[in-house]
Order: sequence, then C-alpha cells, then structure tokens
Amino acid sequence: MHVADPPWWHSGVIYQIAVSSFSDANGDGRGDLRGIIDKLDYLNDGTPASLGVDAIWLTPITGSPLRDFGYDVSDYRSINPRFGTMADFEALLAECHARGIRVIMDLALNHTSDEHPWFLESRSSRDNPRRDWYVWRDGKAFRRPPNRWRAVIESSAWTRDPRTGQFYYHAFLPFQPDLNWRNPAVRDEMFATARFWLDKGVDGFRLDLINFLYEDEHLRNNPYQPGWHPYGWQRHLYDRSQPESFETVRTLRHLADAYPGRALMGEVYTDRPEDCLACLGDGTDALHLAFYLNFATRWWHARDYRRSVEWLEAHIPPSAWPCYYLNNHDLPRTYSRLSRRKRRDAEPRAKLAAAMLLTLRGTPILYYGEEIGMPTSHLPRRQFDDPVGKRLWPLPFGRDGSRTPMQWTAEEGAGFSDGEPWLPLDASYAVRNVADEGDDPHSLLIWYRRLIRLRSETPALREGSYRTIAGTPKDVFAYVREAEGQQVAVFLNFSGRVRDVGRCLRAGVGTHQNAEGNTGPDADADRVWRVLLSTRHAAGEEIDRDAAQLDGYEVLIVGQA
Ligand code: NOJ
Repeated sequence: MHVADPPWWHSGVIYQIAVSSFSDANGDGRGDLRGIIDKLDYLNDGTPASLGVDAIWLTPITGSPLRDFGYDVSDYRSINPRFGTMADFEALLAECHARGIRVIMDLALNHTSDEHPWFLESRSSRDNPRRDWYVWRDGKAFRRPPNRWRAVIESSAWTRDPRTGQFYYHAFLPFQPDLNWRNPAVRDEMFATARFWLDKGVDGFRLDLINFLYEDEHLRNNPYQPGWHPYGWQRHLYDRSQPESFETVRTLRHLADAYPGRALMGEVYTDRPEDCLACLGDGTDALHLAFYLNFATRWWHARDYRRSVEWLEAHIPPSAWPCYYLNNHDLPRTYSRLSRRKRRDAEPRAKLAAAMLLTLRGTPILYYGEEIGMPTSHLPRRQFDDPVGKRLWPLPFGRDGSRTPMQWTAEEGAGFSDGEPWLPLDASYAVRNVADEGDDPHSLLIWYRRLIRLRSETPALREGSYRTIAGTPKDVFAYVREAEGQQVAVFLNFSGRVRDVGRCLRAGVGTHQNAEGNTGPDADADRVWRVLLSTRHAAGEEIDRDAAQLDGYEVLIVGQA
C-alpha cells in the first residue's frame, strides 16, 4: 500500500461521542442523534475552522433501559427512543458520509440487559428453549456459587435466580447476564446483528469487552494474586481472554471483510498487553484496532509513556496498527488526571498530552470535551447515575464525573439542552466552552485543531515509521516519524523546567541509528530543522541546533525535508 493511500482507520482521528451527553435537540435533557447532526460542522466541515476529525464512535444507541449507559442492551436492532428513531440514525449516517465522516457503532456482544426478552425467557424455566442462551449452572451448595470467579465490580460473578434455583454468570453487573457464546444459535444471532448494521452502512464497530466472550468450559478457578482491588486479587486465567474469544474475533473480521472499508475496534479489558496483540492477530485477520488500559492509566512520567510506546512498537506485527487514547467514558478525564497535584499546570500538560496522542504512530481516539479541557466533575452522590459509582461509593470509581454534558457555550444550559440536563453540567462551562475557546488563539481547542490539521497534512505523522530519539533528558519524550523521505521530530518536555535538547538536534536526530539504537551524526546532520508546530515558536522558524532548549512543558514539532 502506498502511504498516500492508507485506510481511514489508519490515518484518521476518531472522536468518541457519549450520546447522552453531547447535544440535545429535542429538549428532554438527554443528548440525541438529531443533536449530533446539529454539531457535525463543529466536528468536520472541511475547513480549518472545524476540529477535523475523520470518524465518530457513538456509545450504544440501541434499545436499552439505560441502566449502564446503554451497555445493557434489550434490543440489538432498534434505536433507543431516548436517542431518536431509525430514520434519525439513517439521516445521521447520510449527513456524516456527505462530510466524509465515518460512523462507528458500539456493540456489546458479551452480555445483554436482564430486561432483554431473551433473558426473560431464559430465566423463566430450566427447560425453556432459550435457557442455554445464557450461562446457567448449579451452585456448589444452596447459596454457594459454581466457582470463585469475580465480576469486574461485584464480589461474585454469579447470581442465584430463585425462580429456578440456578446461578447465572455475569462478568460485569448482575443486570448484565453474559450470553452463552458456546451456543451456535447465540453466535448466529450476534453475527446477524453485526451484518444488520453493516448493511445499514455503518463503517465499523467498537466491540465492548471483546476478550470476555468466552469463559473456561470447565469453570476452573483463577489463582489468587496480590492486588489493590478485589477483581485484581485473581489472575484472570479462565474467565477472560480464552482462545475461543480470539477465534471469534477472526470470524468477525471475516464477516466485516465482506463489506469494503469497514473497521473493527475492540476494547480489550486486561492487564496483559499480549491479549491486545492476540486480538490484532497478524494485522490482517483479526481486529483492525485494539485498545487496552494503556495511556489512560499512566501518570505524568515521560518514561512510562515512552516505555509503553516502545513495547507496542517492538511487539506489534508489521501489518497491524496501534491506537491510543487518553481518556474515555469509564475513566477520569485527562485534564484533571494529568495534573491532580498541580492544578496550575493542567493547561500545558493537556496540550502536551494532545500533541503526543496526535503525533504518535497509531490512530488517536479523542473523547468528547477533551479538546476543550473539560475536567472530571465532582457530583454529589444523590446525583449519581452510574451503577458502578452507586455500588462502590465512597470509593472514587464512579464514572459520572467524566460523562457530564458537553460545554458548547457559557450561557445557561451550556448550549447542551434547553431542558434539565440528565446529569448536572460541570461548573467550568462558564469558562471552558467551545464558543469562547474558538475565539481564543491560545486555547486548548485551537491547539487540538492545529494538531489534527498538521497530522492530516503530514504523511510522516499520519503513516510514518516511529523511532525514539535516544539521549534526551529523562523527562523529555522525543521521537522521529518518517515517511517518503520526510522526517518529523517531536519533543515533549514533561518537566515544568527548561531542558536542553541541542545535543539530539546536533546529532542529526533520527537520520542515523547505530546497532545500539543510539542516534549519531551523519551526512544529514547539517540540514535545517524548521518548526511545524510548537507551544512557543512560530511555524516556519528555524531551530538553532546548538542552542535548542525546551521551555517547561514545551511541545516542539520540527520537520526536515
Ligand atoms: C465497558 C464499557 O466501556 C463500560 O462503560 C461498560 O460499563 C462495561 N464495558 C460493561 O459493558
């Protein structure tokens, strides 16, 4: 493949929309599909005045009682009336496609809602034809579950149903019973669901908990290990990442390949990055993109990010493609997380993190509101919606704080809704909002726009190879991206103090690398480095190789052609 012609999921920027919280067109206080249509120009109108993203990923929009943000499906093939109608969805697809924006749907294949008609039938009696659509087992004794597996949130992954006296399995919350993927009828139904939406024209799926589809057939117990959270006290050898799940990923890929230009992106919930690789296969036969808790749980250390990138670069098959994200609907927001103890530094840190995300080799996934620096909101318990927050309170694992409504303007309602928002707005909307930041050339929003534009105009950043620049100060993460004879060097100073990087530039940065991986002088060392984008220098400025220094938190992106 020529680098000028990569698939959209390689070269594009994906923007995650939490549908309930993005934009409310009908005034009921909850975001909806028409609301998203109203904001498409903000996302990409084809001019530098818009954000410039290439795809949107919608959190679940199908039938659901919305007890877990739609990840509790009660109908896989209809649009939830809270979000609109099928006609609204078709209009959204058409409007997106007219602008060149792809649409990725969330698909939770591991479990349904306990209100799904299949589960209602399944639980009704032991001999119901749908009994085997879910995972039912006898307990060890009256109240003793079949084994010691824990749910991600609950103490046991098994709940006893008094109606039939058996236990059903749920990897997540008790109202989200796991489907039995060993049943061919379940598999057929789920594959048909995927085809249903692909036939409608969606460009891909974000596959929820994709490594959870199967559990060990013999229900073997997991060994114990030390951990900071009850779920982590077990080594999850038998309840997730089973070979059958990876096999299913291949089947899904085969299915998607029948529809040109579609992509599968999977959430791999694991502490083993190897599971993520297993979901990518050889890069052509499994998921197109796979992500795990990588950047999103890192603290503010250049070394940690560098190591994680280097690990992935060293292990990912040549035909597979990385992807990165900083936050999402399950995790604290970047703006707050990266500067927990240094509030004053939130802005430059957020700018640096954005530059890293948007210049690495891999598809960046943004989370709505990240581009304007929305913080994690602190809601009183009585306003919680998230079942995880309610269950684990006062532990700080609730997710509502990352799901507050998008802040469009400083006006009442923040331009999100004319009604009472389903979750309270964060008070920061008065100063952090799209309208005001769009008018401020130094804002985070304008910085994101410029980064996304630079990425889309620069083949080395979109598709180029990656190489760490050796020999930088320890709190500077620096790398070279290279494609078609073009080199771009990125310097990220994670420290709030001045750092010297002249040595790296003098050495000709990435033009030469010896067997030990060190950069060294070579014939290109005399070429001039010019600023492409920086938090300090103007674009086009020539960088003095002998005196190159980075200010605290400076981002310096330079090019050599
Ligand atoms: C992962 C999703 O991101 C999360 O929001 C959801 O609660 C669980 N899967 C269960 O579906």
